Amino acid sequence: MTRLRLLILGAGAGGGVPQWNCRCRVCTLAWANDGRVIPRTQSSIAVSLDGENWLLVNAAPEILEQIKGNPQLHPRAQPDGSRRHSPITSALLTNGDIDHVAGLLSLRESQPFHLYATEEIHGILRSNRVFDVLAEGVVERRAVTLDTPLEPLPGLQVRVFPVPGKTALYMETPDMEIGAVGQATVGVEFLSDHGSLYYIPGCAKMSEDLAARLQGAAAVLFDGTLWEDDEMITAGVGTKTGHRMGHLSISGPEGSMAAFKGLDVGRKVFVHINNPTPVLIEGSEERQAVEDAGWEVAYDGMEIRL
Ligand code: MLT
Ligand code: MN
Ligand code: ZN
Repeated sequence: MTRLRLLILGAGAGGGVPQWNCRCRVCTLAWANDGRVIPRTQSSIAVSLDGENWLLVNAAPEILEQIKGNPQLHPRAQPDGSRRHSPITSALLTNGDIDHVAGLLSLRESQPFHLYATEEIHGILRSNRVFDVLAEGVVERRAVTLDTPLEPLPGLQVRVFPVPGKTALYMETPDMEIGAVGQATVGVEFLSDHGSLYYIPGCAKMSEDLAARLQGAAAVLFDGTLWEDDEMITAGVGTKTGHRMGHLSISGPEGSMAAFKGLDVGRKVFVHINNPTPVLIEGSEERQAVEDAGWEVAYDGMEIRL
C-alpha cells in the first residue's frame, strides 16, 4: 500500500514572512514577534513514501534552515562509515522563480541527486552559469514530459502538468503572455492508493481544464499568494497586481475560493502565501473567511499524510 508523507518546508511566497525589507501590516506583526503571525520561509515542500528518501519540490533560498528544522531531512549515519549523505535524492521544480530555484545553489557540495524540471526550466538553469555548481556527473538533470507518469523516488507515482502561469520575473519579455499554459509553470500530482494529492504553488487562473483535473482530489495545496488582486498596491508595498505577477487571488468572483466551491476536494490548503496577505494573521476576518470555506493556511513544518 502506498502512503504519502508530505512536509511543507516553506509556506511563504517570494520574500517569505517577514520579508527582509518590509513593514506591511503582516510583516510588522511578524517583526514584533506578535503571536498572530507565524514567520514562514519561502515556497518548498518535500514528499516521501518511506520517510527515508525524499523528493524536494522547489528549492527555496532558506533550504538550509528548512533542512535543519526538519530532522527527516538530516544526513543519516552510513553503515559504510561514509561521511556524506542526504535523504534528498531527487528535486523537482514547478517554475523558474527565485523562491523555487535559489536553494539549488546551496545543494552543491558534490552530493548526487536527480533534478527534474521541464526542458524550458532546465534551459533557464543552463543559461545561468551559476547553476553549473550543480556539476554534471554529480547532479543528473532529467527532463520532465508533461502529463506523462514519472517516478522520481522508487514507487512514487507523479504526474507533472501545465497550469496557467507566466515565465519567471527575471525572464520576462514585453510580449510574454500572462496565463500561458506550457512548460513555464506546472503543477504536480502525487498518486497514492488513497487518491491524488496536488501541489500547485503558482497559478494565474482556474481554467476549465484545471478544475476538471482537480475534481475528486484527496487534497490540493494551492496558490495562496494574494487575498485580493490589488493587495500589494493597497498595502503600499508594490505597483503590481496579482494578475500581473501570474497569481490568482483567494477572494473575489474569479478567485480560488469561488473556483473550488463547486469542486469535490478532500482537503484544501493554501501555500505560497505572500507576506501582505491578511490570511496570515490569525483571528483576522480574512483568515476566518478562508477557514469558513474549508481551507487551511499552511505553515512551515505542517505535515500531510495520505
Ligand atoms: C512569484 O511567485 O510571483 C515570484 O516568486 C515573484 C518573485 O520572483 O519575486
Ligand atoms: Mn513565487
Ligand atoms: Zn510585508
